[in-house]
Amino acid sequence: MFPRRCRNLVFGFELIGAGVLHGKRILWTFLEIKGERMEMRNKFRKSTTLRCDSQSKCLISVVIGSLMVCILLLSLLSPTSRKNEMGQGIQIRTSHHLHLRELQEVEEENIQIPPPHKRPRRAPKRRPKRMTPLIDEFLDEDSQLRRKFFPDHKTFIDPMITGNDSMFYYPGRVWLDTEGNPIQAHGGGVIFDERSETYYWYGEYKDGPTYHAHEKGAARVDIIGIGCYSSKDLWSWKNEGIVLAAEETDETHDLHKSNVLERPKVIYNSRTGKYVMWMHIDNVNYTKASVGVAISDYPNGPFHYLQSKRPHGFDSRDMTIFKDDNGTAYLIYSSQGNSELHVGPLSEDYLDVTNVARRVLIGQHREAPALFKHKGTYYMITSGCTGWAPNEALAHAAESIMGPWETIGNPCIGENKMFRLATFLSQSTFVIPLPSSYPNLFIFMADRWNPADLRDSRYVWLPLMVGGLVDQPLDYNFRFPLWSRVSIYWHRKWRLPQGWNSLK
Ligand code: DGJ
Repeated sequence: MFPRRCRNLVFGFELIGAGVLHGKRILWTFLEIKGERMEMRNKFRKSTTLRCDSQSKCLISVVIGSLMVCILLLSLLSPTSRKNEMGQGIQIRTSHHLHLRELQEVEEENIQIPPPHKRPRRAPKRRPKRMTPLIDEFLDEDSQLRRKFFPDHKTFIDPMITGNDSMFYYPGRVWLDTEGNPIQAHGGGVIFDERSETYYWYGEYKDGPTYHAHEKGAARVDIIGIGCYSSKDLWSWKNEGIVLAAEETDETHDLHKSNVLERPKVIYNSRTGKYVMWMHIDNVNYTKASVGVAISDYPNGPFHYLQSKRPHGFDSRDMTIFKDDNGTAYLIYSSQGNSELHVGPLSEDYLDVTNVARRVLIGQHREAPALFKHKGTYYMITSGCTGWAPNEALAHAAESIMGPWETIGNPCIGENKMFRLATFLSQSTFVIPLPSSYPNLFIFMADRWNPADLRDSRYVWLPLMVGGLVDQPLDYNFRFPLWSRVSIYWHRKWRLPQGWNSLK
């Protein structure tokens, strides 16, 4: 039942296997170095490692392999690495490795795409070009697969029901708050507030009717405001209300309900003691292309709206902010008609940009940036630009947040290829770091947009891990450092390792 193949690699052994468990196909793969299980690799990608297809190549691999083993051993025996090992504690690492292995299992399902049919009456008229049959089905309101993409409200995640299902994430299901209402926090982000030892989730509150302002315009919901939810465990969320509300009457106001307010992100400024929110501010045609800033004394608001502007004088659409370990915060936004990203530090009070910025990922047409940092390296997940339709995520890495940023490939693992090329039918919005006892583990937060009824868009939260080598040719592939690969593992049902949370 468990077919296996084993390949000798340059510096160890890679084992790849598949089996059937509880009726679903599980694919797993890991690297083994000197008998010790190390990191996960993506079975679905081309490998850049050497292959033994002839005797001479084998010989070269063995020689290079031996050299690599020597380098690895030397580095392991060096005082710095020994210090790091001791700092982490060997016993804890072993149990963490066991927990993380569970998260690295991935699931694959067989879905049958129905044969092509005439466009149904209510299908969205404006569709991006070059779509796969899966995305065609996804955007078709009458698709037989609708329930698979948007499971009905009977299968919700309810934090008030304790028992076997407690603490499990079910990506794509309706997620209720502690009062039993669907969470409204789309395009959002999460902060951990050290002062209250509480997580806060901010996002677009979209609980209104979806309509098209113009025949060719994108589906939209009038601005209602920014929703805020609090949690001690990242699973059960209490509604803290709308912390930044729409302007009902003044049509000239940025937050007038007829405008666009997207992708709010909040950081805390320890110098000023203020919580600062940045967001994408636009008009109905997305031509204002600005960022807005709001401020509050408390994580759960109310936030006071300050102003909007075109950062550094450029158009700005999808955006995020990132607070570095030294307290410097950065704004990252899609610019020049979404063809590139710009990144630059904020002022010390986080209320404005400075006059420093860099253009990165030029010509790559990426949006929905979600940044995180791991062992001194900056990583970013982005999406392509196809409106509300899902597309392929890419991971990028950089030694300095100001760039250069290098694209290191599609991080999605599991399900089937169509799903991986569509980020499991979702779009990135944020990456949540976990407490330091799990330094390699993050939560990837994404939105499964429902353009037919945006309020019913779903959340796709999945484990994201950093480790192993990237396995596709890179722009500067003879240059150190070799980036670690970023992996987002598909699960229909999963939970964080028990004991991850010291807050309870
Ligand atoms: C894609 C962006 O990522 C979303 O935030 C939103 O602006 C949609 N486009 C609108 O079509």
